[in-house]
Amino acid sequence: MQHVYFVSFGCQMNVLDSELVLGDFERSGYKQTDAMASADVVLINTCSIREHAEDKVWSLLGRARQVKQAKPHLKIGVMGCMAQRVKDEIIRRAPHVDLVLGTSNFRSAVQDLEDIGAGGGRVVRAAKRPDPEFLPDADRNVGSRPDAYRAYVTIMRGCNHSCTYCIVPHTRGKEVSRPMGELLAECRALVADGVREITFLGQNINTYGQDLHPERKHTGEICTLLEQASAIDGLDRIRFLTSNPFDMTEDMMRRFGEIPKVMPWLHIPAQSGSDTVLARMQRTYTVAQYHEVVGWARKHIPGVEITSDFIVGFSGETDEDFERTKALVRDVGFMQCYVFKYSLRPMTISARRMPDDVPEDIKKRRNVELLAVQDETAEARNKTLLGQRLEILIEGISKSDPTRVTGRDMGNRIVHCEGDASMAGRMAVVEIEEVGAHSLIGRRVALEDEAGRWTYRSYGHAVPSATA
Ligand code: SAH
Ligand code: F3S
Repeated sequence: MQHVYFVSFGCQMNVLDSELVLGDFERSGYKQTDAMASADVVLINTCSIREHAEDKVWSLLGRARQVKQAKPHLKIGVMGCMAQRVKDEIIRRAPHVDLVLGTSNFRSAVQDLEDIGAGGGRVVRAAKRPDPEFLPDADRNVGSRPDAYRAYVTIMRGCNHSCTYCIVPHTRGKEVSRPMGELLAECRALVADGVREITFLGQNINTYGQDLHPERKHTGEICTLLEQASAIDGLDRIRFLTSNPFDMTEDMMRRFGEIPKVMPWLHIPAQSGSDTVLARMQRTYTVAQYHEVVGWARKHIPGVEITSDFIVGFSGETDEDFERTKALVRDVGFMQCYVFKYSLRPMTISARRMPDDVPEDIKKRRNVELLAVQDETAEARNKTLLGQRLEILIEGISKSDPTRVTGRDMGNRIVHCEGDASMAGRMAVVEIEEVGAHSLIGRRVALEDEAGRWTYRSYGHAVPSATA
């Protein structure tokens, strides 16, 4: 029995790519191991979005070299954005790496390792186009998933935008959408295997399908996909990310709001609350336009929760710019924000044209300050949920308290309530009793049984059928 030690860095797309590769390993009889020392294969799925993410990979590769010294048959592979971006450097700096697979060519991993095992040498596949024999999304092993009830589905790869700070268009190339029929078939297979919630992934889902049907520009092909997916019996919840402020229309928001299975949750990265900074980032919208998009969401999707990404300390960002970002966070009232310190990435537009001129200590301070504003806003908003009833999909036992289970409500908030492992995969209604900035705790007032029927506990009042 061969063992693979697999590490995945970065975004949701990487999480899914890792799952696809691990599905291939599982099919070929490999087992996963938590200990590098007992592995026959070490494979790292890498991220290039910030320098820090790449540093971690270099240090992991250092550890793998030591293990390989004691165990020469160990094979080491690097896949993902960093493998695409710095393949030459990996080949030069890390002669112990046997396999380098770029962002379009990673499904050959098992085959390549077998070839290397048989014939020796190294394999490097970093062509922009996938090898037709090993298409990134083909033939998914749906049974190999970390989460029994929720799954990701990649609907498109790459990005056609050119935000000046961003390495993704370099590492993942231009937008390539997957045909709708193929996506729906994958969803059906996942649902047949027990999945109740699917999250569609793309760097900018707003333009899904435009490369396949240029004549359908601005028709909201993503909405058609959501409408068709919602017809799948047994699929209860649909989410998607990322919806950017650009390429979004009010009509798309209206259609999202009309599909009951589409959850009231949108990830709309703002990046900054200053028009000057947004222009330097080439985000192509102003703060006023961002507010307009949020307004459409709130008008057409009842109870919608919005999450966002921000970069602090981008080139030229002044204290005033940063104050505007804090104001945006307060004004919108996000459920959650991810805040990143600007990290200069070689080959990006900002690396070529704009100095990385905000000192590290100021980036750090702004990062902490913005998160504090976000936490304060989120906690105040969450307080309005006290006493309310939320429908959650239970994921399993809580990591921090074994007497509780954890799930997500329709707005994607983390909710804990009393329960046990047998409840995983079922819906429950929870009356909220305690709130923090990042999660809610409540008592379970209703639980769906294994047959999908609701059972009510005697707390004195019936649970509304709409459950929200
Ligand atoms: N459209 C993508 C964005 C990918 S990058 C998506 O689907 O999420 C994820 C986040 O990383 C971005 O929204 C941005 O906030 C952050 N980021 C990207 N490049 C960065 C850089 N050079 N430095 C710091 N943060 C960055
Ligand atoms: Fe990056 Fe902007 Fe695309 S953040 S992934 S270039 S939308």
